[in-house]
Amino acid sequence: MKYPERLDDIAELIRGATTAEDAQARAVEHLYERFRRYDWVGIYRLEGEELVLGPWKGEAATEHVRIRVGEGVCGACAVSGRTEVVPDVSADDRYVACFSETKSEIVVPIVKKGRFWGEIDIDSSTLNAFGPDDVEFLEALAKLLAARV
Ligand code: SME
Repeated sequence: MKYPERLDDIAELIRGATTAEDAQARAVEHLYERFRRYDWVGIYRLEGEELVLGPWKGEAATEHVRIRVGEGVCGACAVSGRTEVVPDVSADDRYVACFSETKSEIVVPIVKKGRFWGEIDIDSSTLNAFGPDDVEFLEALAKLLAARV
């Protein structure tokens, strides 16, 4: 694990949260502030057949506050239940554009008691911004969040 101290920091923040929503907001804020390549960070929650945007941090709001399951990279993650890494969004047909700056994206599922609950979605203005270290770190974070939702 490349970012163990960051996971400790974030675990501490989540422990201090008063509600599930607060825990998600703290995690989102931490990711956005501390990771240089994480240019937009949001958490979507599954509601019926749609993913609904909860806490987010970034320069601009996305118009995609509701995404249908199966639509875009976010919707693909809801179907596969696995982390989706897109090194180059221009080369992935599934990608639904939110920001013109975005070059790569990662979507990490939050699974609670074996069920898909929602996901962490991160856009980067850097090409190929998300490697195995990011996957490992964010999947560990998703587990922490799953325990609080
Ligand atoms: N790019 C995503 C849509 C959500 S925005 O990045 C915030 C997708 O392809 O599902």
